[in-house]
Amino acid sequence: MRIDILSAVPSLLESPFSHSIMRRAQEKGILEIHSHDIRDYSNHKQKSIDDYQFGGGAGMVLMIEPIVAAIEKLQSERQYDEIIYLTPDGTQLKQSICNQLSLKNNLLLICGHYKGIDQRIREHFITMEISIGDYVLSGGELAAAVLVDAIGRLIPQVLNDETSALFDSFQDNLLAPPVYTRPAEFRGWKVPDILLSGHTQKIEEWRDEQSFLRTQARRPDLLK
Ligand code: ADE
Repeated sequence: MRIDILSAVPSLLESPFSHSIMRRAQEKGILEIHSHDIRDYSNHKQKSIDDYQFGGGAGMVLMIEPIVAAIEKLQSERQYDEIIYLTPDGTQLKQSICNQLSLKNNLLLICGHYKGIDQRIREHFITMEISIGDYVLSGGELAAAVLVDAIGRLIPQVLNDETSALFDSFQDNLLAPPVYTRPAEFRGWKVPDILLSGHTQKIEEWRDEQSFLRTQARRPDLLK
């Protein structure tokens, strides 16, 4: 999979993909991530990319020309399955959306900044709008990093133990069960006996039950 990200602050996107699972996915050649600076597509002398909003009001808006120039340059090189704008008024991100997107070949993500991007870009180029939650970030970059991480780890062969993504929280509308590691006892706090029993089927049943109880207690909405 290839993911291109258009941003006014591409340096914000360096660290999230340089470590751990995201780094290994790129090293294995399973995932390619390319960040692009919107400023590189500005025709202005000062390389400006934003302007005051028509109608007045506080806050700058990212201009249409540099973003469209960048989108069209990238589109001339490959066909994108989705062009996604990260915005607090988009569809709220869910595991099911991540599952669908992990099957695509080419994604283009657009990060807003300040007040956002000119509405005409959203109407004529964007195919999906995604929010990572009901709060406002100063730009779409951290949201893009969340989206890429959530999608990237689902691509087959990215996780060493391929099955582990299948048992993540939300994969079947249930939260994940509790997990423990050594030592089996710490300050008198013991790991549940069942997990030390070696009885695979009973352990599986215990985990299913814990998943259900945890979901019922914390996120009953998921069970509806
Ligand atoms: N940009 C600013 N806030 C955001 C959010 N909550 N989700 C996605 N993009 C955003």
